[in-house]
Amino acid sequence: MIPTREECLKMMVQHGMLENIIDHSLEVARVAIFLSVQLNKKGERVDLPLVEAAALLHDLTKTECLQTKEDHAQTGSRLLKEIGYERIGDVIAEHIYLSRARDPDRISEEEVVNYADKRVQHDRIVSLEERFEDLKKRYGKSERALELLEGLRSDTLEIERKIYAILEMDPNQLERHLFEEEEARRRGTDRK
Ligand SMILES: [Fe+2]
Repeated sequence: MIPTREECLKMMVQHGMLENIIDHSLEVARVAIFLSVQLNKKGERVDLPLVEAAALLHDLTKTECLQTKEDHAQTGSRLLKEIGYERIGDVIAEHIYLSRARDPDRISEEEVVNYADKRVQHDRIVSLEERFEDLKKRYGKSERALELLEGLRSDTLEIERKIYAILEMDPNQLERHLFEEEEARRRGTDRK
C-alpha cells in the first residue's frame, strides 16, 4: 500500500515542512524516479510508486527535528510505519546511512533514494564530490564527524558505481540525461 503523489504532497504541506525542504524533496524524487525508470529499462525491478513516495516523504519530519535534534531518518520512518506504510518507513530509515546488507544482484529502493538524496544539494543536482564538500563544511565539526562523513562518501560512491554499471551512463551527465528524458516525454517521443 503506497500513497499517490498527490497524497504525499498533501502530507508534506499538512506536516508543516519548511518550503526549502519541500523543494529539496521534490528534486530528490525527480532524480530517484529518473534513475528507477532507467534501471527498470535495464531489467531491474525497482518499485516506482514506492521510490516516488519515499523520496517525497524522506525528510517529512526534518523540520521539527531541527529543533528537537532527533534523528529525522528514525522519526520519519516511525511515523510512516505507524500510519501503515511499512515499506516507505524502511526506505526512509535508510536514507542517510544504508545499514542493511546490500544485495549485490539487485538495486533496492533504499539504495536509489539514499543515492538520489546525495546528488541533490538543496534543490540542485550536484556531484557527490560537491555534495560531500558541502556536508563537511556544515557538519564536519570534529575529527569523528569528518571520519563518519568520509565513510559515508565512500559508501555512496559504491552505490554510484553499482547503479551506473547497470545504466552504462556517466554519473556526471545525470542532469543532462534527466533533462533530455523529460524533453522527450514532453514531445511525446519517449526514448527507449
Ligand atoms: Fe534527510
